[in-house]
Amino acid sequence: MSENFELKQKISILKNKKNAIILAHNYQIEEVQLAADFLGDSLELSRKAVGLSQAMIVFAGVKFMAETAKILAPEKKVLLPRLDAGCPMADMITVDELREMKAGHPQAMVVTYVNSSVEIKAESDVCCTSSNAVRVVENLPAKEIIFVPDQNLGSYVQKLVPAKKVILFEAFCYVHHRIKKEEIAAMRVRYPQAKVIVHPEVRPEVIAGADEVLSTSGMLGYVKESPAKEFIVATEQGLLQRMKRENPGKFFFPALSQKICSNMKRTTLKDIYDSLLEEKYEIEIDPTIIDKAGLALREMLKYS
Ligand code: 13P
Ligand code: SF4
Repeated sequence: MSENFELKQKISILKNKKNAIILAHNYQIEEVQLAADFLGDSLELSRKAVGLSQAMIVFAGVKFMAETAKILAPEKKVLLPRLDAGCPMADMITVDELREMKAGHPQAMVVTYVNSSVEIKAESDVCCTSSNAVRVVENLPAKEIIFVPDQNLGSYVQKLVPAKKVILFEAFCYVHHRIKKEEIAAMRVRYPQAKVIVHPEVRPEVIAGADEVLSTSGMLGYVKESPAKEFIVATEQGLLQRMKRENPGKFFFPALSQKICSNMKRTTLKDIYDSLLEEKYEIEIDPTIIDKAGLALREMLKYS
């Protein structure tokens, strides 16, 4: 019996015993994707966390995702199997920096990408994910929007919502920001039939050369429905594993630069087992922050 098979069986027994569910992000390693009860993008995972019957959520993703689940379902025990699975972009902005932006633009509303700390969410009017950022900004009553932390997602939103003034902060995802327009152009030459699909965390010039700009689950939906057979995919490479698994007969090519989010790759099956067994590491958030950040997150769900 393979080690993974045994672990999966043990995880399944523990899950039933503890009334737990495993939620996982699309970038997780394949063995974790396959062990998950639900796999999705940030918005799908946030929605899923609301109204679950299970008492415990094991979150295979990064810290801000587990925190989002805890804020939206504070009565649940939410576990993050690896304490060191963070998101460097979420750590690029401090509360003082955001407060300074707010002081400089008192009329503006604050839209915060979920890839952020709980303290930043608590200072915000509404949150967004990669799949609803445009919709959120478009529908807000304010003309001026402070958008944090991702400068690339923010400038994509600005381009699609020209009626608003979007004030950006300088932060980015090191995985997506690394992808250059020249490499996508070279891939187009190599695979002329392929559609180019990119995540909105990539640079504006990469977005400009894309056929579609989509969240991770948006990409999965697109490749499934598209009559095209070949796709150049500019995002973290974990997604390509799911794409290949779910679309036999279609071909997926990553952009040339290495696109691995080391944080998303930390969680293993063994970590999930240990997490369930020892009920670690429990997400704990100050109740005042839960209340304030919860308002911004629930506001986001209204627009989705
Ligand atoms: P999605 O919400 O599109 O899955 O993106 C999450 C993320 O962390 C992208 O880097
Ligand atoms: Fe953060 Fe980028 Fe990793 Fe997503 S891929 S979790 S934005 S570092």
